Amino acid sequence: MADNVWVIGVHMTKFGQHKDKDALDLGSEAALSALADSGQTIHDMDVMAAGSLFNAAAGIGQQIQKQIGQTGIPVFNVSNACATGATAFRTVYLSIKAGEAEMGLAVGVEQMGKMGLLGAAGSAKGAKTEYEPAGRYGNVMPVEGILGTGTMPGVFAQAGMEYAYKHDGVTVDHFYKIAEKNHAHSSLNPLAQYNKRFTLDEIKNAQMISYPNTMLMCSPNTDGAAAAVLVSESKLRTLPLDVQKRAVRVAASVLTTDPYVDGSHVLPDVNTCTRNAANKAYEMAGIGPQDLDLVELHDCFATAELLHYDNLGLCEPGGAADFLDSGAPWRDGSTPVNVSGGLESKGHPIAATGVAGIYEITTHLRGEAGDRQIDGAKVGLTHVIGLGSTCGVHILEKSAL
Ligand SMILES: CC(C)(COP(=O)(O)OP(=O)(O)OC[C@H]1O[C@@H](n2cnc3c(N)ncnc32)[C@H](O)[C@@H]1OP(=O)(O)O)[C@@H](O)C(=O)NCCC(=O)NCCS
Repeated sequence: MADNVWVIGVHMTKFGQHKDKDALDLGSEAALSALADSGQTIHDMDVMAAGSLFNAAAGIGQQIQKQIGQTGIPVFNVSNACATGATAFRTVYLSIKAGEAEMGLAVGVEQMGKMGLLGAAGSAKGAKTEYEPAGRYGNVMPVEGILGTGTMPGVFAQAGMEYAYKHDGVTVDHFYKIAEKNHAHSSLNPLAQYNKRFTLDEIKNAQMISYPNTMLMCSPNTDGAAAAVLVSESKLRTLPLDVQKRAVRVAASVLTTDPYVDGSHVLPDVNTCTRNAANKAYEMAGIGPQDLDLVELHDCFATAELLHYDNLGLCEPGGAADFLDSGAPWRDGSTPVNVSGGLESKGHPIAATGVAGIYEITTHLRGEAGDRQIDGAKVGLTHVIGLGSTCGVHILEKSAL
């Protein structure tokens, strides 16, 4: 197998509403700051990958290059729903693994403003809307208003309620508790969109978006960017000692899509691709979930987080509610989950989120997370899932070079 790959620079902008900036400002800020954090410049990069879902056809990578330096290196503009940032990171990782590049830059950026609800079962104009027994993949059957709802909060609400239906002891209170935890965690994260704690009653009584997810259980629409600099192990050995000391190893990098599962063409299956990605990542890293010191998982809605305790193997099969009740995913628990505040409170600028997870884990493994530091963290996992579906899982390790 080719060289190990390490992360030597990361940056995340403040998440929130940036009315005075555009996606280019945010992406360039993240890219330049990650480069500065790594002690390198754009001249040292051999490859770049960039994603901005709502600018998917705009060549965001080349646009950012025009701001930070046009050196003629290849740019991969990637678009993979909420896994766009993880895909950009993995694209640079693969270029290094393939031996084509020694160093590279991954950027994820989004400017969402006040977009309101996303999703809602859009069909292309002129697309067939009738069910065909012989089958045709795509817009086979509209979901909206017939089988449920195709809005994002709706899809994840249905998935959460399905988990509660299938497993004894799961109640809607568990979903409220997840939001309570993540909002509490965000109070320690100065880069999060929101930093306010909420009581269970405030969460429960907030505006209903899609039962059981209230407003405070939904990731908000967010502007923000994150970037990371990756390097091959052989190149890292030639870099200054202070760069080597802060480097974090990529122990696993995995991307999956949905395998065929009954019913998933109508109601997206948000579980199987995560389970597959997690299993593969643990195998690559040679560790198990019990070895993780912290996890940043895709809590786009509170209902989603509960599912992913199970999908990522953080609990016994079917035991997500017990895991939560035991206090395990709180920052002082045995497997802290979303100590950044998670998407529910840190914010979810779609294409930035995958790289922001890398930023969060790297910062803890370096011991540089300030008030929210998980002491002694050595191994962390970051997970994103984009509907469609696609899942990215990365495991990072603080190990000696
Ligand atoms: C839930 C949703 C519809 C609310 O949108 P909205 O009606 O436009 O509401 P706003 O964003 O204006 O929020 C109003 C206020 O509620 C509060 N609020 C909203 N969401 C919040 C959150 N997650 N945490 C804390 N406060 C929140 C804020 O005070 C906000 O005011 P602000 O503008 O001063 O920050 C929208 O955030 C949404 O669709 N989220 C899901 C996004 C999504 O699907 N992402 C992809 C996931 S896979």
